Amino acid sequence: MSHRDSLVLSSSTQDRDEFRRQVSATMDAIMASYDDESAFSGMDPFELRRRIQAIDVLPDSGLGFDDTLTTVAREVLPHMLRTWSVDYMPHLHAPSLMESISSELIIGTYNDSMDSWDQSPAATEVELSVIRCLCTLFGYDGNADGCFTSGGSQSNLSGIIAARDAWCMKRLGHDVKRHGNPDIWPRMRLYTSEISHFSMDKSCHLLGLGHDAVVKLPVDDRCRIDIDQARRIIERDVEAGLLPFCIVATLGTTDFGSVDDIAALRLIADRYGAHLHADAAYGSGAVMSRRYRERIGDLSLADSITVDFHKMFLLPISCSAILVKDASLLDCFELHADYLNRQEDEEDGYVNLVDKSIQTTRRADALKVLISFMTHGRDGYERMIDTVIGNADHFHSRISGDEDFICPVAPTLSSVVFALRDGDEVNRAVRRALLSSGTVIGQTVKDGRVMLKFTLLNPALTHEHIDRLIERIKAFRDRLKP
Ligand SMILES: Cc1ncc(COP(=O)(O)O)c(C=O)c1O
Repeated sequence: MSHRDSLVLSSSTQDRDEFRRQVSATMDAIMASYDDESAFSGMDPFELRRRIQAIDVLPDSGLGFDDTLTTVAREVLPHMLRTWSVDYMPHLHAPSLMESISSELIIGTYNDSMDSWDQSPAATEVELSVIRCLCTLFGYDGNADGCFTSGGSQSNLSGIIAARDAWCMKRLGHDVKRHGNPDIWPRMRLYTSEISHFSMDKSCHLLGLGHDAVVKLPVDDRCRIDIDQARRIIERDVEAGLLPFCIVATLGTTDFGSVDDIAALRLIADRYGAHLHADAAYGSGAVMSRRYRERIGDLSLADSITVDFHKMFLLPISCSAILVKDASLLDCFELHADYLNRQEDEEDGYVNLVDKSIQTTRRADALKVLISFMTHGRDGYERMIDTVIGNADHFHSRISGDEDFICPVAPTLSSVVFALRDGDEVNRAVRRALLSSGTVIGQTVKDGRVMLKFTLLNPALTHEHIDRLIERIKAFRDRLKP
């Protein structure tokens, strides 16, 4: 056999060896790209842009893998964000569990696509099995179903499409899939917290209902939907002729990790015949903890649930699922194409998951859940969740007794929003100074004031580290004083 370049995997020894060599060289480059615990090199954006723009993205002649890796290892990797750092805590952006990175290698290597069984035989069966496990985990019965998605935004979109279509069929006998929105669409309303994720607005835009269809309900002093006000607002709207088709409970708001009262929202939804969607993109991880699970309430009360695995479950981006209490809710995504998901195959037992999904080509993300759930088990996940929520409680108890800080909302999950008492400018400057030193914390606004934020997803973080960070924040603040 004549020599040729190894381009894709094959059964040949040459291709297998070359693949192994490239993966191993990549591992070496990653390991050599950092030598401390910081989250970021601290390089300023202009210098980083200059260096990266100096790379010729499409050379006339390819450089080959080794030279390309050398350049990437020199210019890019050292300035990648290191999500595993205990000094990284600004967003709902988690470090990846080690074995889940290996899962990504498996997913990328096989590159199965979840649309049809003939593109993902084992991966389809894995997703079916993982979805069944998740339905049970969140208290749904055998009538439930679900599907993996690209992230919490798409899971929310899927839940809201399903809600809209089912509501229109039930209330109006109107088939949205065939005919589009009903004539009364300008009166349809989705109710959600004023601090819910913006995917509610995006979804209503994409559904042709517009942002006007989203009614933002006020929150109480713990940043949860104020239930009395919610009742009043919805009642007033219904009297005015508006039509509540969906209520969204947020179980873990993006900034505060606050959790809406799902039982109370269920009663309101039932009163008006609305679908109840639970955006548990963040809070769903608490289901693994016997100590903290009651903080998110009973998710099985919802008609549909968004679960993100790239948040509290610590899996690589992207990994999310939409679960529905009644499997038929996902029928709204079913369409058939002769080349893809033939009905005759489905009648013979081949499952084509494209029938339940917004996406066509789709990654085999359920495999990451299978591998990490099996690796750690319930008890391993419980320890991680107990650690991260316990860390937030620890941080809150430290700063709430410290007159240098204000902390308006006690944590429910693993996020704490707080500020130095010294005012907006100081808080902004402290965050920037920390960033340049490789420590990345969050910043947001509450009641018009600039606030700092810790989103504590890393189970490797210790109380000692949190205590040291409090001292560093004060030290940066002191250095700013004239
Ligand atoms: C409460 C909540 N819902 C939904 C999302 C959207 O998730 P994703 O970024 O995976 O699309 C987020 C993102 O942070 C979130 O905080």
